[in-house]
Amino acid sequence: AVTRTFSIIKPDATRRNLTGAVTAKLEEAGLRVVASKRIHMTREQAEGFYAVHKDRPFFGELCDFMMSEPVVVQVLEGEDAVARNREVMGATNPADAAEGTIRKTFALSIGENTVHGSDSEENAAIEIAFFFKPEEIVG
Ligand code: CMP
Repeated sequence: AVTRTFSIIKPDATRRNLTGAVTAKLEEAGLRVVASKRIHMTREQAEGFYAVHKDRPFFGELCDFMMSEPVVVQVLEGEDAVARNREVMGATNPADAAEGTIRKTFALSIGENTVHGSDSEENAAIEIAFFFKPEEIVG
């Protein structure tokens, strides 16, 4: 079925002017950008978005990084969008990511790993609603 997922192009990518290159990989994978905006996350947004990780040792570093430079938040639509996006992103740690994936191609480290993508349809709905109003999504 055609579904939606949520994506973030992270600060390591916006800083290196890779917004277009990353988006091209997503589009080549059959995903369509149905909403997109460039934002500079506040601490409140970063900590709220990553609240599930608040007890992890890297939580502070993760939030600081996500607030360090602008990001591009996107809603992606396509056949089985969550799985398709996870496949094109590659493993969280670029050292483990498959050839041709976004993280293998662009990521710098497990923290500076270029993209975020929802891990389930349930979380996709929550994450989309965190950053977008329904009328901002144009399918
Ligand atoms: P993301 O999909 O955005 O969700 C949580 C993020 O935490 C993950 O991508 C990684 O970038 C980050 N992360 C996971 N493990 C580590 C780690 N050991 N050190 C720093 N960041 C990490």
